[in-house]
Amino acid sequence: MGKTHKPLTPKFPHMLHGGDYNPEQWLDAPEILEKDIELFRQAHINCVSLGIFSWANLEPQKDVYTFDWMDSIIDRLYKNGIYTILATPSAARPQWLAQEYPEVLRVDSQGRRHFFGERHNHCYTAPAYRERVRQIDTMLAKRYASHPGVILWHISNEFGGECHCPLCQQAFREWLKDKYGTLDKLNHSWWTSFWSHTYTDWSQIHSPSEMGETSIHGLALDWRRFVTHQTIDFMKAEIAAVKAVDPTIPVTTNMMEMHADELNYFAFAEHLDVISWDNYPCWHMPNWQEGTACQQSITHDMMRSLKHQPFLLMESTPGTTNWHGVSKLKKPGMHTLSVVNAIAHGADSGQYFQLRQSRGGCEKFHSAVISHAGTANTRTFREVAQTGRILEALSEKLYGSDTPAETAILMDTENKWALSQCRGPRNDGLDYYGNIRNNYHYFWKNGIHVDFVDSTYDLSGYRLVIAPMLYMFRRGMSEKLRQFVRDGGTLITTCFTGVADENDLCFLGEATEEKLSDVLGLWIEEVDALYSHETNRMVWDGKTYSLYELCEIARPTACTCEILSTYEEDFYRGMPALTRNRFGQGEAYHLCATAGQDFFDAFYEKLASEMKLERAMQTAVPAGVSLTWRENETQKWIFVQNFGDAPANLTLNQSYTDLLTGEPYRKNLVVDGLSFAIITPSSS
Ligand code: GLA
Ligand code: ZN
Repeated sequence: MGKTHKPLTPKFPHMLHGGDYNPEQWLDAPEILEKDIELFRQAHINCVSLGIFSWANLEPQKDVYTFDWMDSIIDRLYKNGIYTILATPSAARPQWLAQEYPEVLRVDSQGRRHFFGERHNHCYTAPAYRERVRQIDTMLAKRYASHPGVILWHISNEFGGECHCPLCQQAFREWLKDKYGTLDKLNHSWWTSFWSHTYTDWSQIHSPSEMGETSIHGLALDWRRFVTHQTIDFMKAEIAAVKAVDPTIPVTTNMMEMHADELNYFAFAEHLDVISWDNYPCWHMPNWQEGTACQQSITHDMMRSLKHQPFLLMESTPGTTNWHGVSKLKKPGMHTLSVVNAIAHGADSGQYFQLRQSRGGCEKFHSAVISHAGTANTRTFREVAQTGRILEALSEKLYGSDTPAETAILMDTENKWALSQCRGPRNDGLDYYGNIRNNYHYFWKNGIHVDFVDSTYDLSGYRLVIAPMLYMFRRGMSEKLRQFVRDGGTLITTCFTGVADENDLCFLGEATEEKLSDVLGLWIEEVDALYSHETNRMVWDGKTYSLYELCEIARPTACTCEILSTYEEDFYRGMPALTRNRFGQGEAYHLCATAGQDFFDAFYEKLASEMKLERAMQTAVPAGVSLTWRENETQKWIFVQNFGDAPANLTLNQSYTDLLTGEPYRKNLVVDGLSFAIITPSSS
């Protein structure tokens, strides 16, 4: 059985239900602020995220602080049983600050310094910005850290983007000097003799730009690493400021979905006490509802894996998302199901942007728990309140419970950066995340837990490791994978794996250990890229599957390498498409081409049953349904979620009890469309 993780804070060891609250927009309307508290209580809200965009109201002029309004809000919330997640306000600066210190404004890759405006766009390097942020963070911590209602620091908001100003250029050069020591080493690592781009002085180094250098891939990779480093450095300075006052309040920063991969979130994890993220899926897309559910579950699983502990769903929309191409309403049930899905994958909260809808500005049509109507009498409000009641019930049983996984999928941000800049073999697109999703889908549907880890994480605790399109082997990666298989693990690799090192320099030689040829039992001689309308085919386990994007021409090098399937078409017809090699105590499968979800569903069904991977339960899972579970020392709770519109019927192999209703299920369980059941094996 599993374990229970330590609570986020002893002040409130329960699941959180709440969201971003912007009372600074309503300071001249005390009756509205009063009513908010009453409505929060009706909506079963137990926390708010406060102060994210309040800087201009907290420090209206340089060194003039006005905290009174925040004092009374935090006090009033606390008296009503509502806790505060307090933000540092660095995500949006006041006008006066940018006017006095123009260097805090970002410079883009074309060298243009931006005007004041928008948000999330300051220079992470500028000492003036860091100092003003340190001051306000310290003031906030001194005033509020000991407040019994303040439970968590929300550091800034959705870090992202990059700055190309002279200060950042200088910091980048220093970072490179630290990394390489000498220009010779840098030139060699970046292969700058190509096109005569050799650097002869550190000052010649400039960040990548469409007006300058994009052809040196080592430079581009190091720039992305530097941007992550500098953002983390900025975040760490904020954390240090608040922790210097009171080290007991935990810290988080709200991340975005994995497609916002300009930052490497895996590198952030060790600096945060709890991971949180903002989830805005496009529900109800024609023929893609299950795809949406699967996609957001990947990010939930990744967020859980970052620290191998429960995470927070810091933001999600109670209704529509105004920045989507189309602001689709959520159909009845969808909101609750979407929050429950986060819990099912290891979250200990359901939080929203936003609690009260703003009246003006560009987010006035983003939905909120309290709409412009200002009433509890809306469909959205009622569903939020219902969600709050459900979270209270779940919290009692599931708070801090575990989501253990025997399988890991490698999802490496640096690999994604390297793949995105490749010119060839297929500039018309290599769908790294699509490949990951196709590999994940079977596990997601059938209740087999998956962690998402990057190349720096320990693999030794897993039984199955899947490395889709792991083009770049960062330092030590081939040895790590070799050890994993040698020790008895099962490894799956797919085409375009182990091609280049961490500087994006291609590995040399035929079959080499660097490329993992000994473990896979083969080497790749050529790669054919397919036009978008073109497919090849393979037959596996009696069925035919289409192959897309890339087809490798592989040569087996070990007599232990079994050819499980071959290409059906083209001049490489009859050559290996799928292989398995026994190595040490384990085995490694290699798929030489890109396959679709149909193949991976069938392949993993066979493999998961051969390996007897732990499942939520043994049953045939109907269309639209996904299973998962959470467990603690004594109980296992299975989430049956139906993302389809029609009711789904599951056959049960034993009796279960419903967590919310106490109802027993003996032979079968019917779950309505856009609904869920959380069940536990009955004791007798
Ligand atoms: C992000 C931000 C919020 C808000 C929402 C709207 O997640 O953090 O401030 O803009 O998007 O969806
Ligand atoms: Zn800068």
